Amino acid sequence: MSSPEARGNWGSKIAFIFAASGSAIGLGSIWRFPIMVSHNGGAIFVFAYILAVIFIGFTVMLAELAIGRHAQKNPVGAFKYLKPGTPWKFVGYMGVITGVCILSYYSVVAGWAFGYLYKTVVGTFKGEVSWAESERIFSNFAANPLETIICLFIIIALTTWVISRGVKGGIERWSKILMPMLFGLIIFLAIRALTLPGAGTGISFYLKPDLSRLNINVFFFAVGQAFFSLSLGMGTMMTYGSYISKRDNLVSSAGWVCFSTTLVAFLAGMIIFPTLFATPGINPGEFKAGTGLMFQVFPIIISKLPGGYIFGVLFFILLLVAALTSTISLLEVPTAFLIDEHNWRREKAASFIGALSFLLGIPSALSVGGSSYLSRLGIMGKMDLIFGNIMLAVGALLICIFLAYSWGVTSALKEISSGNPDFRLKPLWVFNVKILAPLAIILILIFIKRITG
Ligand code: PHE
Repeated sequence: MSSPEARGNWGSKIAFIFAASGSAIGLGSIWRFPIMVSHNGGAIFVFAYILAVIFIGFTVMLAELAIGRHAQKNPVGAFKYLKPGTPWKFVGYMGVITGVCILSYYSVVAGWAFGYLYKTVVGTFKGEVSWAESERIFSNFAANPLETIICLFIIIALTTWVISRGVKGGIERWSKILMPMLFGLIIFLAIRALTLPGAGTGISFYLKPDLSRLNINVFFFAVGQAFFSLSLGMGTMMTYGSYISKRDNLVSSAGWVCFSTTLVAFLAGMIIFPTLFATPGINPGEFKAGTGLMFQVFPIIISKLPGGYIFGVLFFILLLVAALTSTISLLEVPTAFLIDEHNWRREKAASFIGALSFLLGIPSALSVGGSSYLSRLGIMGKMDLIFGNIMLAVGALLICIFLAYSWGVTSALKEISSGNPDFRLKPLWVFNVKILAPLAIILILIFIKRITG
């Protein structure tokens, strides 16, 4: 068992917030969130998502951080340490498997961002870009097996390289400089999108709830999106929490991560929907977003900026970095597991999991036009539904039950009080972790059974 020093610690509380927000903020907020909004009734989904973040996401995040910091271990090790000889360790194994599976298709989309960076640099999006053109560019690119697999390989190789160098050297340095830049650029692009002629239709689709579209599906996907975007339910925050110092305040750290991630997702929607519905020929009533939504819309808004070329290049660089800080956190969970539990060297563990995710990612890479068979099966969508929604929700549910009824709320509160002696939200958090979050997730999962079976 390694000591805290050997595991490495974050340089400071702010460094942890950057690294954890780096994990959270990524394609989940910028690529996946707008797709979810467009499939699930627009504004009504936005509200459900915000509620899910506040009442369930924050609760689970604090639970994971407390478990991780107390145990000072990867998810499998943490459960073994806190409840030795019990089946709880399987929740950790589940997280490790979920991490590898999410990493596989997530890296395909991150690969698209890489491909788009290349396209922007070579001038594919020069001048006004029409919707039809943007759609054509995306579908041709996503359907090219060689290009998408090469891009997937590049993403996994970069991620593996950063993880091989360890937590401090790798993750921390990147996040601190580039995350604030991404934030600035997103705000800037949102302002441009909001001032487009015709932006109003998009704004009302995004912000004016239509109650007739409310159904339990909306909640299923909103809660799933909250877990996905906040990196919860598979032990990422547990692993990151294991590197936090005892002096740091877990509550405010969790609050900052939830807030910054939700803000980025919200602003991403503020860019996508006004731009989309201000584009000639697009009718909100008939529009059906595909996996490429973000990749089809961003070149349009960027082409409407003076100096668009520079902004385009900058945007795709920052998107790529946001995606990489997330792939890094996905790879860190299985890597930390092999290092801590099986004494593997860091380089060997990272390369092994990296190679596995690459192979697993190939079917997803080919499923957006590359192979007609895999596209018909909708492999990427299925992977995302199973691992990105259901497994994260099951994981989060089990983490709440473990904390509330096995490890115990008293032990968790003791851990939380180190670094935060007066935790004012205590009664609310205790109620949420014991009752509200598990109950909500159970109800939602019962429902999903009904729609699939
Ligand atoms: N939160 C990341 C994103 O939104 C994805 C992720 C999910 C990372 C689960 C780690 C664990 O891009």
